[in-house]
Amino acid sequence: AFIFEIYYIYYRSMILKSFLYINLGAVHVPSYALELTLKDSGNSTCLYAKWQMDFTVYYETTNKTQKNVTISDFGTVTYNGSICGDDQNGPKIAVQFGSGFSWMVNFTKMASSHYSIHNISFSYNTSDKTIFPDAEDKGIITVLEVPEITIPLNEIFRCNSLSTLKSNNVVQHYWDVHVQAFVQNGTVSTKEFLCSKDNTSTTVAPTIHTTMPSPTTKPTPKERPETGNYLVNSTNGICLLATMGLQLNITQDKVASVINIKPNTTDITGSCQPQTALLRLNSSTIKYLEFVFAVKNENRFYLKEVNFSMYLVNGSVFSIANDNLSYWDAPLGSSYMCNKEQTVSVSGAFQINTFDLRVQPFNVMEGKYSTATAQECSLDDDTILIPIIVGAGLSGLIIVIVIAYLIGRRKSYVGYQTL
Ligand SMILES: *[C@@H]1O[C@H](CO)[C@@H](O)[C@H](O)[C@H]1NC(C)=O
Ligand SMILES: *[C@@H]1O[C@H](CO)[C@@H](O)[C@H](O)[C@H]1NC(C)=O
Ligand SMILES: *[C@@H]1O[C@H](CO)[C@@H](O)[C@H](O)[C@H]1NC(C)=O
Ligand SMILES: *[C@@H]1O[C@H](CO)[C@@H](O)[C@H](O)[C@H]1NC(C)=O
Ligand SMILES: *[C@@H]1O[C@H](CO)[C@@H](O)[C@H](O)[C@H]1NC(C)=O
Ligand SMILES: *[C@@H]1O[C@H](CO)[C@@H](O)[C@H](O)[C@H]1NC(C)=O
Ligand SMILES: *[C@@H]1O[C@H](CO)[C@@H](O)[C@H](O)[C@H]1NC(C)=O
Ligand SMILES: *[C@@H]1O[C@H](CO)[C@@H](O)[C@H](O)[C@H]1NC(C)=O
Ligand SMILES: *[C@@H]1O[C@H](CO)[C@@H](O)[C@H](O)[C@H]1NC(C)=O
Ligand SMILES: *[C@@H]1O[C@H](CO)[C@@H](O)[C@H](O)[C@H]1NC(C)=O
Ligand SMILES: *[C@@H]1O[C@H](CO)[C@@H](O)[C@H](O)[C@H]1NC(C)=O
Ligand SMILES: *[C@@H]1O[C@H](CO)[C@@H](O)[C@H](O)[C@H]1NC(C)=O
Repeated sequence: AFIFEIYYIYYRSMILKSFLYINLGAVHVPSYALELTLKDSGNSTCLYAKWQMDFTVYYETTNKTQKNVTISDFGTVTYNGSICGDDQNGPKIAVQFGSGFSWMVNFTKMASSHYSIHNISFSYNTSDKTIFPDAEDKGIITVLEVPEITIPLNEIFRCNSLSTLKSNNVVQHYWDVHVQAFVQNGTVSTKEFLCSKDNTSTTVAPTIHTTMPSPTTKPTPKERPETGNYLVNSTNGICLLATMGLQLNITQDKVASVINIKPNTTDITGSCQPQTALLRLNSSTIKYLEFVFAVKNENRFYLKEVNFSMYLVNGSVFSIANDNLSYWDAPLGSSYMCNKEQTVSVSGAFQINTFDLRVQPFNVMEGKYSTATAQECSLDDDTILIPIIVGAGLSGLIIVIVIAYLIGRRKSYVGYQTL
């Protein structure tokens, strides 16, 4: 019965594990950054914005039931109608996407010291049966929100946290928002004005009260990064292999921003030497991300160094390097593997989360991972750990029972004596 129990508990934990894994693997929240730099007639920047959003639309079907659809993949995006504004009209961002969606935000100048994000409108076309199947045809529907966020002039508004705007039929989510209207002298400000949710580090109340959209407990949408295959060539063919999903975690002003690296928009370079190997990635946002591998004791390799540099929204550059790391240690001639999420901590402000990792920076033959048993991370070893823990727990229980029995016997023995 004990053995059965052990296996039952082990089996249950395995089912739970695969269930959790499938659930995690299935989570997919596409993140889609929109970016716009508007220039005035003199070709200097008047407005800058970069942000992510999605929409959930609730609609009525022909038989009076409710359905909903979430729009997060925008397809082709145009910004027609976005204007710098003039004396009569304020600046405006207008976005068209998908089939028949449009989104608009306009800004107003308040006195001489502040501007506000005045109103946001979102329109959709329920006549489109591919997006709104079975919808009762109501044509174009527009929802208008008035968030009234007030920002000092010549400062860029930043809100990495998730903001939600709710109306009867539409729930709008916004995150990773950076926007500055009324840009002065064509230079986007380096001074950030944080929304209250990003600004948890400072306890001093801002002089101008900002009204943020209703808070929610939902965390910033964050998907698992796509797994990329990163190869480095040398004159003799492929000399470094890396397969991994990369997620960067950058902490600035006590706010963490998480960036997933998209493999197919990332450039790969590198080099291989007998004692060191370099993998260098870059993209439109990442100036460079370098992984330097080294050989130790002539029989093992490891990740020794990470150099990272990224362009910030305000035009400055965030750089960090650490050449005293010790991760991904494995014998030369084999590869290092870790399927679970693992964190490479480069500094307090910069971490790399890796997923489905496999690397072989040395001794690559014919462009393939070595068939020698890969070194697996300890995190992947809990398949062995679970029965050990269960077993240890049960042995502990048996010992407790035995001790209790012995104590019980002693007591009754003592009892007999007094009698
Ligand atoms: C209403 O329509 C939906 C889908 O079109 C269908 O699943 C549901 O069964 C329908 N309800 C009734 C009462 O006909
Ligand atoms: C947006 O502008 C582009 C060219 O600037 C034009 O081809 C397109 O038709 C316009 N779209 C709309 C919806 O006006
Ligand atoms: C903002 O846009 C709305 C339409 O969405 C318009 O009615 C309003 O006049 C605009 N406000 C400003 C200040 O431009
Ligand atoms: C709404 O969608 C329908 C079907 O796709 C289309 O025929 C109609 O022209 C659209 N309406 C507008 C105002 O774009
Ligand atoms: C813009 O330029 C004017 C004159 O060149 C200068 O007085 C002003 O301080 C500048 N403003 C900013 C925000 O740099
Ligand atoms: C840009 O923003 C970052 C993060 O908020 C800040 O540390 C940096 O000092 C800013 N750059 C400049 C030039 O102000
Ligand atoms: C490396 O070589 C492979 C073929 O051997 C080629 O497909 C690939 O484009 C090369 N990559 C680089 C970065 O040169
Ligand atoms: C990012 O880093 C911060 C600070 O180190 C940490 O609190 C947070 O959990 C990290 N997020 C992820 C997704 O790794
Ligand atoms: C990048 O990959 C995604 C998903 O795999 C795909 O939808 C997209 O078209 C690709 N983009 C490019 C530029 O290849
Ligand atoms: C990577 O850097 C190279 C050289 O600096 C540049 O030409 C290339 O466009 C960059 N790649 C991406 C995807 O930005
Ligand atoms: C990484 O950065 C450090 C310091 O900035 C520099 O000395 C080193 O050469 C860089 N490593 C590589 C491989 O570029
Ligand atoms: C490198 O790291 C080790 C332990 O991780 C530490 O003992 C050592 O002092 C570090 N060296 C430098 C130069 O930071």
